[in-house]
Amino acid sequence: MAATIIDGLALSREILDELRAETAQLKQQYGKAPGLVTILVGDNPASLSYVSRKVKTALELGFHEVQINRPADTSEEELLQIIADCNADPDIHGILVQLPLPRHISEKRVLLAIDPDKDVDGFHPMNLGRLLVGGESITFLPCTPAGIQEMLVRSGVELDGADVVVVGRSNIVGKPVAVMLGQKGPGANATVTLTHTGTRDLASHCRRADVLIVAAGVAGLVSPDWIKPGATVIDVGVNRIGFNEATGKAILSGDVDFAAASQVAGRITPVPGGVGPMTIAMLMRNTVRSARKHLAEQASGDRG
Ligand code: GUN
Repeated sequence: MAATIIDGLALSREILDELRAETAQLKQQYGKAPGLVTILVGDNPASLSYVSRKVKTALELGFHEVQINRPADTSEEELLQIIADCNADPDIHGILVQLPLPRHISEKRVLLAIDPDKDVDGFHPMNLGRLLVGGESITFLPCTPAGIQEMLVRSGVELDGADVVVVGRSNIVGKPVAVMLGQKGPGANATVTLTHTGTRDLASHCRRADVLIVAAGVAGLVSPDWIKPGATVIDVGVNRIGFNEATGKAILSGDVDFAAASQVAGRITPVPGGVGPMTIAMLMRNTVRSARKHLAEQASGDRG
């Protein structure tokens, strides 16, 4: 039987509707919209496409959106100054620096320069540390892991006691999603295995997963015989495997052989239209939460 498709686009629209209402309420209460700055250095086509989708969504929600695009030869000092200005700007509640950065700029120094209380990507080491501690300590969840957890929960996938296997140990997806789903609490409490390029017999780990999360960046890595019948498969891969001259768009493929895997899995996410839109929705959610906190603090400061 063919798997049920987990429709990330439809789920993200539900969340964006909730956030649109919250944005309107914040504007009414404080006279200000959530402020998001997106910073893009260079002209990597994938990054340009991601950033323009983030900007479009922010504008649709009614955010105060500031787009800063700089050429690839921008110096690290210039970028750090832009970030310092955004840190100091009371109308900016979220700062996003699109990755990857040109090679002459240290990603580590740039991420460390962002005010952790405006780090809506959740990439600052302080926020990754807070995530590890869990519970009340968490300020911003990284967007792709948060989107994965949200789509699992909203699709009714049981995580309590489930065997979750994550393929890929990046700081952006693999490591944080493994930590999040292994935390004690609702929408988590799973037994998580984090696999990577050093894992022996990767297929055997994948085959025992109730929930298989693949974020390896290798097109078609997971074949149907790696999937336990009825398992839930979350494909985080966005691999550009060609270019469609007619549409002028890249041809995308996930890390999972979607057509074949659909015949084995119980539920599966498509690429595109799965994790991608959920990541954007979570960025917007982090920005609204940040705005609520900053605006409340500013209002109590003004009164005091
Ligand atoms: N590059 C790939 N994914 C992301 C993301 O979620 N945020 C940022 N800032 N850069 C990325």
